[in-house]
Amino acid sequence: MAVGIFDSGLGGLTVYDAVARAMPEVPFVYYGDNAHAPYGVREADDIFALTCKGVERLWQEGCDLVILACNTASAAALRRMQETWVPPDKRVLGVFVPLIEALTERKWGDNSPPREVAVKHVALFATPATVASRAFQRELAFRAIGVDVEAQPCGGVVDAIEAGDEILAEALVRSHVEALLRRMPHPQAAVLGCTHYPLLESTFQEALGRDVVVYSQADLVAESLKDYLRRRPEFLGPGKVARFLTTGDPQRVSDKATRFLRRKIPFEAA
Ligand code: DGL
Repeated sequence: MAVGIFDSGLGGLTVYDAVARAMPEVPFVYYGDNAHAPYGVREADDIFALTCKGVERLWQEGCDLVILACNTASAAALRRMQETWVPPDKRVLGVFVPLIEALTERKWGDNSPPREVAVKHVALFATPATVASRAFQRELAFRAIGVDVEAQPCGGVVDAIEAGDEILAEALVRSHVEALLRRMPHPQAAVLGCTHYPLLESTFQEALGRDVVVYSQADLVAESLKDYLRRRPEFLGPGKVARFLTTGDPQRVSDKATRFLRRKIPFEAA
C-alpha cells in the first residue's frame, strides 16, 4: 500500500513529514533527485525528463500514486505528464491545488465559476522556473477573481539549503522578501510556493511581519492526500516498504535530512 513522494532534493521532506504523521499506517517511499537539484533554474523539457525518471523509479517500488512534492516539477512538468505520459492505472498529483483551494476557501472538487474571495493581495515566493510558468496564477484564476499576485523568484535559496548553508539561505530570504515588499508593501497573505521554503518559514514570517498570513503546503497536502486515498483506495500501490532514495551521495543527504527533520532519515542510492 505504498505511496511515492518525489522532489528535486530535500524540500519534499517537509511534505513527507506531514503526510507520514497524518497517515502513519502508509509506507511512503521518498525520491530526492539531489544530484540534479536545483530544478528551479532548469528548462521545462529537462524538468519533465528528470521528473519522469524519478516517478518511474517510484513505480518500481510499488507506488501507483506519486505526489510531486515539488512546485517546480508540478508547475513545469505535471500537466504534460498527465496528458501524455501517465498510464491509466497510475496517478501523479501535484502540490499546487490544495494550497490554492485553501487560499480561495474551496473544498476539493468544487468546480463552480471563479468568485471573489477574502484575500486580495498575495505575495508568491517560488523558484525562477515556477514563477516563469505562471502556473500559480493560472490555477488561481480558475477559482478566484480580483486577486492581485506579486511573485518573487527566489534565486539561490534552494542551492543554499541543499548545500546546508542556513546563514546564506536566511540572508537570501530576507533580501527576496524586501524586494517583494518594495513592489507590494502590504500583502495580506504570502505563499511559500517551494517545498524547501518551510524549512525557513520563521525567517519568511519575521521578514514579512506578523500581520501577513503565511501559507505553506505540507499540512494542506497531507489533508488532501488523506481525503484522496479515502475516495480512491485502489491507488494505494502494492509496495510494502518505506524507503528514502537519492540520486546524490546517500551519506551526505542522510546527514542533512536528519538535521532538518531532527530524527534519523537514512537515505539509500536510488
Ligand atoms: N522543492 C522544489 C519546489 O518545490 C525545489 C525546486 C528546485 O529544485 O529548485 O519547487
